[in-house]
Amino acid sequence: METELEAELSAHRGRFIVVEGIEGAGKSTHITHIVNYIRAEGREVVATREPGGTALGESIRELVLAPSKEPMSPEAEVLLMFAARAQHIEDVIEPALGRGAWVVCDRFTDATYAYQGGGRDMPLSRIAALEDWVQGALRPDLTLLLDVDPEVGLKRVGERGGKDRFDQENVEFFAKVREVYLRRATLDRHRYAIINADQEIGKVRQGIASALDPLLATKADG
Ligand code: TMP
Repeated sequence: METELEAELSAHRGRFIVVEGIEGAGKSTHITHIVNYIRAEGREVVATREPGGTALGESIRELVLAPSKEPMSPEAEVLLMFAARAQHIEDVIEPALGRGAWVVCDRFTDATYAYQGGGRDMPLSRIAALEDWVQGALRPDLTLLLDVDPEVGLKRVGERGGKDRFDQENVEFFAKVREVYLRRATLDRHRYAIINADQEIGKVRQGIASALDPLLATKADG
């Protein structure tokens, strides 16, 4: 497994971009734009998501999102997220980055810190241990945090219908999720961009472009 330094020195390696936010932040719409924006700069882009991105990951996604009468333990939930992630890194993320492609991932480990750590009160040190074990040195180059007030996000989710196991959580749950996202992003301003997602789409796109442009300006891969 490559160290962080070796990864930085590898001029050919692609960039790993993650998009995060609570339910109703508008991730799907903005991800399409992000992918097109990077492709327009001539880079190969692999768009993927978590949990998911592989056949095993998509099966795990169905398991963790399906509403169920039997509550899932927080331990089972976090381990399923990392099981899906292990397969995703091995089959999709590392091969893409290694050949110079950019990976745009709809959620990654920041979501585990925010949902299982914040929402479910799992100690963050346990998540950090799993992160080190499963990912080695792999961390996103940039996490775009689409930030929205939980009241606004939940209203948007309510309008779209078809609620999964997380969509059914209440506003207090999403307030805790948001708090962890914001805390992590504020502590590491190099790796995160906090974008106010409760403003007109043009302004959100401007925020996204300002975060991506410095990375796109670095030496063209390959
Ligand atoms: P979404 O990708 O459609 O937003 O749905 C995925 C859901 O899974 C979302 O509610 C957040 C949740 N999730 C976690 O709780 N932990 C994780 O590590 C990941 C990747 C997602």
